[in-house]
Amino acid sequence: MNQRQIFDNGEKPMARLLKEYVDGMSLERDFYTSEVIYNNDIRHYWNSSWIWVGHVSQVPNTGDFFLFDYGTESLIIARDKQGEIGVFLNVCRHRGSRVCMEQRGNRRVFACPYHAWTYELNGDLRVAREMGEGFDPTEYSLLKAHVRIFEGMIFACTAKSPPDIEAGLEKLAPLVAPFDFNNLKIAHSASYPVPANWKLAVENYMECYHCAPSHKDYARSHSIKDPEYLRTELTEAMKDRSRAVGLSTDEVSVSSDAEGKTDMDFYHRRYPLFEGYLTGSKSGEPLAPLLGNLKGFDGGTTDLQIGILNNFLVYSDHVVGYRFIPRSVQETDIEVIWFVRGDAEAGKDYDLQDLTWLWDVTSQDDERIIRLNQEGVNSFHYIAGPLSHMESGIRAFYDGYLAKAALW
Ligand code: FES
Ligand SMILES: [Fe+2]
Repeated sequence: MNQRQIFDNGEKPMARLLKEYVDGMSLERDFYTSEVIYNNDIRHYWNSSWIWVGHVSQVPNTGDFFLFDYGTESLIIARDKQGEIGVFLNVCRHRGSRVCMEQRGNRRVFACPYHAWTYELNGDLRVAREMGEGFDPTEYSLLKAHVRIFEGMIFACTAKSPPDIEAGLEKLAPLVAPFDFNNLKIAHSASYPVPANWKLAVENYMECYHCAPSHKDYARSHSIKDPEYLRTELTEAMKDRSRAVGLSTDEVSVSSDAEGKTDMDFYHRRYPLFEGYLTGSKSGEPLAPLLGNLKGFDGGTTDLQIGILNNFLVYSDHVVGYRFIPRSVQETDIEVIWFVRGDAEAGKDYDLQDLTWLWDVTSQDDERIIRLNQEGVNSFHYIAGPLSHMESGIRAFYDGYLAKAALW
């Protein structure tokens, strides 16, 4: 980033940006270049959203933990002696040091490296030396995030009062149940760093207007980018197969509204792959054992969204999780996590190369187009442009985002 961007005093205050925003258009330059807006994004948007931090299979035993970092924040996800999974801010209650630096592992306690305050696995302060009479350790537990475990997927929110996630999860639960997310394991994780603001990465995921021109491999097997009539025909044929293998064909679509009345976005829609494709593989052939209690392949995949920030693609034999993690105003990690059935063995039941092929090449495409998007937006000649009807997902993101920004 150049000095001009950092010290650009031409930035507009949020109130003015909101007033000038024209419905149906992309956002102004400042949203993607301003340090002030980036900090507020972390503080007010990310810190008040439910964030998908991981899966229960990452912490099977007492003392197992891993870190999840975004923006300025670091979270410790740990399983305590009672078997409960807790999420804590990785910020010492003495003078604020990071308590844990290891990315994952197993611990009996968390000891701060600075003055050795020591915390239990449930975040309670156990020992603090030389703090004198009257010091009450119960007042200095690690700050706790709200935790919601949905079908094995761990969500955390650091806000005092988190958005309502229950109403949406209630709708999703019966639709997701046949895949048995509880019984998944991570086959592979990959991170694609992109020099762009996190909002450009999210926007890219929210629309498939770019799929046909930018994702040749995806477009060969997935019908979502195709004209309505073809999709309808393929969808009807798939729905019969979906029901036959034990899947519901109900859809869920809850979108943020511009008034900010809806706290979160939820989306669940199964859509067909083209004929000859049972799953998201290069050959069309299965990649791994069927998930949960599915009785066969229906030749579909599910777009699943639990809040704008947490996205999943659910094939009959694997799940791909997607998230876009802000690191700085123009640094974002596209994180992709591939899940297979818990008992599937690499090399025997699935080939890692084959399993990860599609969303690896697709993410590389996305890295390139998001990077170029940011480079263009950085120009002082960039002007907000009109959204296509195929970019309605971006509108839903803007509605929720701008409603929150109005409260800063
Ligand atoms: S900052 Fe952690 S013990 Fe002092
Ligand atoms: Fe894409």
